[in-house]
Amino acid sequence: MTADELRSKYIEFFKARGHTQIQGKSLIPDNDPTVLFTTAGMHPLVPYLLGQEHPAGKRLVDYQKCIRTGDIDEVGDPSHLTFFEMLGNWSLGDYFKEGAIRMSFEFLTSPQWLGIPVERLGVTVFAGDEDAPRDEESAAVWRSLGIPESRISYLPKKDNWWGPAGATGPCGPDSEMFYDFGKEPCGPDCGPGCSCGKWLEIWNDVFMQYNKTSGGTYEALARTCVDTGMGIERTVTILNGQQSVYDTEIFAGIRGAVEKAAAYRYGGDEAKDRSVRIICDHVRSAVFILGDPKAVSPSNLGAGYVLRRLIRRAVRHGRKLGIEGPWLNSVAGAVVEGFKGPYPELAENQAFIMEELDKEGEKFSETLQKGEHEFEKLLPNLLKDPRKIMSGRLAFRLYDTYGFPIELTEELAAERGMTVNREEFDGAFKKHQELSRAGSEQVFKGGLQDHSEIATKYHTATHLLHGALRMVLGDHVAQKGSNITAERMRFDFSHPAPMTAEEIQRVQDIVNEQIRRDLPVSMEVMSLEEAKAGGAIALFGEKYESQVKVYTIGDPSAGVFSREVCGGPHVDRTGVLGSFKIQKEQSSSAGVRRIRAVLNS
Ligand code: SER
Repeated sequence: MTADELRSKYIEFFKARGHTQIQGKSLIPDNDPTVLFTTAGMHPLVPYLLGQEHPAGKRLVDYQKCIRTGDIDEVGDPSHLTFFEMLGNWSLGDYFKEGAIRMSFEFLTSPQWLGIPVERLGVTVFAGDEDAPRDEESAAVWRSLGIPESRISYLPKKDNWWGPAGATGPCGPDSEMFYDFGKEPCGPDCGPGCSCGKWLEIWNDVFMQYNKTSGGTYEALARTCVDTGMGIERTVTILNGQQSVYDTEIFAGIRGAVEKAAAYRYGGDEAKDRSVRIICDHVRSAVFILGDPKAVSPSNLGAGYVLRRLIRRAVRHGRKLGIEGPWLNSVAGAVVEGFKGPYPELAENQAFIMEELDKEGEKFSETLQKGEHEFEKLLPNLLKDPRKIMSGRLAFRLYDTYGFPIELTEELAAERGMTVNREEFDGAFKKHQELSRAGSEQVFKGGLQDHSEIATKYHTATHLLHGALRMVLGDHVAQKGSNITAERMRFDFSHPAPMTAEEIQRVQDIVNEQIRRDLPVSMEVMSLEEAKAGGAIALFGEKYESQVKVYTIGDPSAGVFSREVCGGPHVDRTGVLGSFKIQKEQSSSAGVRRIRAVLNS
């Protein structure tokens, strides 16, 4: 069965059972600062899962493009993907556990639909804890359908609970369906949900019963809902008796384009195969991000940073395969070709996709070339070392000055029969971080009126507030001044009108959300040009040294919330800020508003 056939069957099955097909949404969520990308089919439906009426009714079905970058480093193994498609059906206050499970079972096992033998299925249900009871109801339905108790695993919240997508929102226990590849169990506890490779999760029925509040409690929802998600790539894999998503027809065209560009036949060498898989995944994700109606361009911030990482990582693996010249477009073309049926936006935005890939590929090639050139210059001296070890300090200089990745220095060194002193590199890297931190402490002493811990917290809070204001009011918001005491913060910013009560509430919520996420705060020293090019906010009219400190809030690999040029100091993690409350919003001068806010522990 192909992905196209699976999509059609799923929609047809649920339409025949009273569901209305709705359009999948953008990959870039609307007004949601808690995530960079749409991570599941339920994501765009959160307001309806929380009680709003959906114009299409109480039973919905769709397919949705999703991106999850949490385990980008795992991509390359048989099943991990950053981009995937999810089929989903929803009940908004209509059927609940029994109805959902019965339909899932019928679709999976009926010969008219997927025809998976019942003996190949296993399921998991929620084991229960202090927040919610063990899900005996779901287990009973599975048993009544012929799933023996030995193939039902009861697992805790970390496995069998979905949501909320952000820190608050609809959530509940789930029941996941697994395909058994038929391998020997890895041990006495090996059951559905075990990650040994015997079981592959293909579908998840979530029973939305609770709303997680900002206080961390679980309130029962007045109207219970069902949210299900089936992974297309995995399901096609098992339906065709394959082991890896990359072996399916879904990737055939893309893989073919990589093989052609690399003049390499997949299946010959495990390390090269891994590079092929990484390229297939990353280019597919990049094309979908760039082809989205709300596309972002590669940058050093947020979704743009993820996109940049995907493209650069693909280029690096292209080099590993020995691909010369620009090649991203040929693989991207195969992605557009393969998916423009279900996702016509890819063909509509093809020119933009290709242009951006070209530009980013070229930019990265320049970085690589510069680094290589510098490496060549160092070479005569390096070769004099009889031990053939390149010092970590030199490798660090290539990294620090030219942005040349350490892995590539190691590669180039290996080509000359040398190794890099990685320990020394890591040491230099760490020292650099410490020096930067020490620098920030000096500024701290001279810069702030109050050196106390609380003032430092307020200082980090101003960055969160600045970011939240720009998110809610727009990019015209610029900091005009700030004043911090041990009791409160004051923040002046450009905005032409008084804020509404809703805007104030939303800004406050966003700041508190970032505090709850306990985001890391990190600092780098760079030139002002580099800082601006990287999307850091610098204050207009401010005089800066040629080298500036840039503070980033958020983990760059998961998407940053704020990046500002600033002397510091700041806390290490936002979690220590306590809770943030806006006390007053008023005029400061023409076109400038003033917010007074406090932090409570
Ligand atoms: N939201 C659930 C998941 O992503 C079911 O759609 O697994």
